[in-house]
Amino acid sequence: MATKDETKEKASGNGVEPESEGTLSITDSRTGENYEVEITDGTIKTMDLRQIKVKEDDFGMMGYDPAFTNTASCRSAITYIDGDDGVLQHRGIPIEQLCEKSTYLEVAYLLTFGELPTKPQLERWVYDVTHHTFVHEDIKKMYEGYRHDAHPMGMLLASVGALSTFYPEAKQIEDEEERYMAAIRLIAKVPTLAAFAYRHTMGLPYVYPVNDLNYAENFLSMLFRMEFDYEPDPRLAKALDVLFILHADHEQNCSTNAVRAVGSSDVDPYSAVAAGVAALYGPLHGGANEAVLSMLGRIESVDNIPDFLEGVKNREEKLMGFGHRVYKNYDPRARIIKKHVDEVLEITGENPLLDIATELEKRALDDDFFTERKLYPNVDFYSGLIYEALRIPTDMFTVIFAIPRTAGWVSQWMEMTLDPEKKIARPRQIYTGKRDEDYVPIEDRKGPEKITGPPARRPKLIRRGA
Ligand code: CMC
Repeated sequence: MATKDETKEKASGNGVEPESEGTLSITDSRTGENYEVEITDGTIKTMDLRQIKVKEDDFGMMGYDPAFTNTASCRSAITYIDGDDGVLQHRGIPIEQLCEKSTYLEVAYLLTFGELPTKPQLERWVYDVTHHTFVHEDIKKMYEGYRHDAHPMGMLLASVGALSTFYPEAKQIEDEEERYMAAIRLIAKVPTLAAFAYRHTMGLPYVYPVNDLNYAENFLSMLFRMEFDYEPDPRLAKALDVLFILHADHEQNCSTNAVRAVGSSDVDPYSAVAAGVAALYGPLHGGANEAVLSMLGRIESVDNIPDFLEGVKNREEKLMGFGHRVYKNYDPRARIIKKHVDEVLEITGENPLLDIATELEKRALDDDFFTERKLYPNVDFYSGLIYEALRIPTDMFTVIFAIPRTAGWVSQWMEMTLDPEKKIARPRQIYTGKRDEDYVPIEDRKGPEKITGPPARRPKLIRRGA
């Protein structure tokens, strides 16, 4: 395997030793003590604060940063983002160039191993991924057990976790060969699992992968093939491949952080990636593209945009597909997707929601509420329109996001696993509850005599079964 023998070092991405940039002088006003804390990479190590104490037996100072808004949780050489200037680069290469010149599988290699592959390396990588797209037949039985209206993301989440039961050898995370196999299997099988989820929802027979189709074509084939002669439109497959590149990695986002946190316990990579799928499911993360489409549907017509924006400003709802924790400028991915929306709609036919989206963006960008808060369209604002044009149902959108993000999760998991600084993720807390209370016998406790509300499980609207 040309790919893995040569690339262990590069995959770790952490070869650069941090250089000291000076010190931060801290004076503790409680004690008058001075401390010099070393600065590297423009950061201080919060562990260095621990020496700051009032009394010798104090625990020492900690940092408080819920949601890690100003805390670097790792050193990483995979993805660079400059949120103020709207820059995104993978292993140093701008996303614009990758979208124009590369393919998703090549980008997956780049993310995982740190450099663009040579021709033989790429051929081997593509061969390996393509020849691991089949899933064990027992996985089909799992899918048969889901309700007909199960959300595809829930099905994907469970089936990615279940892969660990099919490949128990993946637990040997210190084994380079096993790590490589898990990377290949995850990138290869997630599209198959995603397509099975769709076919299950539609009540259609599952479609097996076809090895002579490329990655995006194969996914479209597994979604839509009804006869043996199905041929995915190469232009649509290319647009989907670009969307895959755009979603492949985005440094320490919520789901990647989940993969790293769970993976830090040395669990197998399938279980760690399942945690990423779970995090991506949420409407503030990968679920936003689904929410954008339903928002555009609710707005219904361009005439209703002013009322809708008033509602956003009155905090009755959010403008989905706008805003980002890191980008305080136009998300470069949104810019690229916007270009492709027109190309795809030329092939598939017009979508009236595009007019609403375009006008909504224009009005929001002209409005002080959004500009003052640096709220710009993010990757999810336009991606749903392409998925819809590809005849992909809304509840599959987040699943489509999960397919390419698998390469990001795998590469970040690999980097973490090889990182000499890796430790189990275990944050501290600031305890705010009571202490040293006595246990009260039940007959002495104060509270209502009788509970009158319905029991927790009583169905309120629709009976969905046991
Ligand atoms: N619509 C209206 N107001 C917003 C929005 C929005 N979409 N996003 C942020 N704000 C306001 C927010 O209310 C706050 O206002 P104020 O300072 O007056 O209280 C200010 O902007 C700062 O927002 P924040 O919530 O502190 O920002 P955050 O960094 O915690 O949240 C976000 C980032 C992406 C969760 C948020 O912008 C959001 O909920 N956006 C909508 C959901 C969305 O499109 N998510 C996809 C993100 S990109 C894909 C991905 O990476 O998963």
